[in-house]
Amino acid sequence: MVNHTATSVVTIERFIIEQERLHPEATGELSGILYDMALAAKMIANKVRRAGLADILGATETANVQGEIQQKLDIFANDTIVKAMDHGGRLCAMASEEEPGIIQIPDGFRCGKYCLLFDPLDGSSNIDVNVPVGTIFSVVQKITRGRHGEMEDMLQPGRRQVASGYVIYGSSTMLVYTTGQGVHGFTLDPSIGEFLLSHPNIRIPDEGRYLSVNDSYEGQWDEPTRQLMRKYRGLEGGRRPLSVRYVGSLVADFHRNLLGGGVFCYPVNKKNLNGKLRLLYEANPLAFICEQAGGAASDGTRRVLDIHPHELHQRVPLYIGSKRDVDLAVQTFAHRSELVGA
Ligand code: AHG
Ligand code: MN
Ligand code: MN
Repeated sequence: MVNHTATSVVTIERFIIEQERLHPEATGELSGILYDMALAAKMIANKVRRAGLADILGATETANVQGEIQQKLDIFANDTIVKAMDHGGRLCAMASEEEPGIIQIPDGFRCGKYCLLFDPLDGSSNIDVNVPVGTIFSVVQKITRGRHGEMEDMLQPGRRQVASGYVIYGSSTMLVYTTGQGVHGFTLDPSIGEFLLSHPNIRIPDEGRYLSVNDSYEGQWDEPTRQLMRKYRGLEGGRRPLSVRYVGSLVADFHRNLLGGGVFCYPVNKKNLNGKLRLLYEANPLAFICEQAGGAASDGTRRVLDIHPHELHQRVPLYIGSKRDVDLAVQTFAHRSELVGA
């Protein structure tokens, strides 16, 4: 990584160019995707900040493919990303949490070698109450031979991602990304409209301070999950108890735990046998970032990045964050059959 002094101002553009120069074989296409995402993020940030003023709060009539009520800002964010990305010649297809199938590059635009998968607005049910929301994205290289991206290109295991990132629209707007050379965070300076490097080379503490879980599902958890939560809370196993923090916006919960150390859990429950979060739009991109920062991500048994997806909107249980805290989940679930039988 290029070494910047504490006083130098580094825009995201400059940082991406400097990173690219470290790779003589790079064509600049991936850098272009990251610029375009940063532009889309600024447009979404602008809208989110004015949400209460611009009469765009509240639900629309339609439901998305997961049957949830879409918020107007979900649609705005989705369309903003599609429009910012479809004409650059770098992508061959996209997939969004908000759209049922593959989003093709319109005729007349060049197709590139990358696919973009994204959750346009994460935590959108929180927007009405001024709680932070986010955008999550993942980039993989096309593996099929045709001009357009196909389902096979989208359904690659997360370890094949070449870049991933998220934007958090919080008290300030931050973009955090990785291309496999560490994790870097940029804060939007609204007065000049630029993302500036504020968090170079983010590392997650090995052992966390925070536990993020929605424990209103406790009655629906199996015994191993309950036991794991008792361990995290220091009620069993003699560990130092974690403090509970749950925003209900994955990006916000993940971001806090990335900086402060901790674990985010969305376990299997009786109603959601595969958890709730989506493998391709949420778990994979954040797992890539988390591992790059020295953390871990598991579905309780498998490394998230090794899971072979079988459909676009697949859900997955998720344990993500500080390495030792995620390892505790994996160890606890290694004895799951004994405990479930007990
Ligand atoms: P989205 O708004 O993209 O549908 O995601 C909502 C997700 C995630 O952000 C959050 O962690 C989780 O839903 C919260 O779910 P519960 O309300 O079941 O805890
Ligand atoms: Mn989401
Ligand atoms: Mn969403």
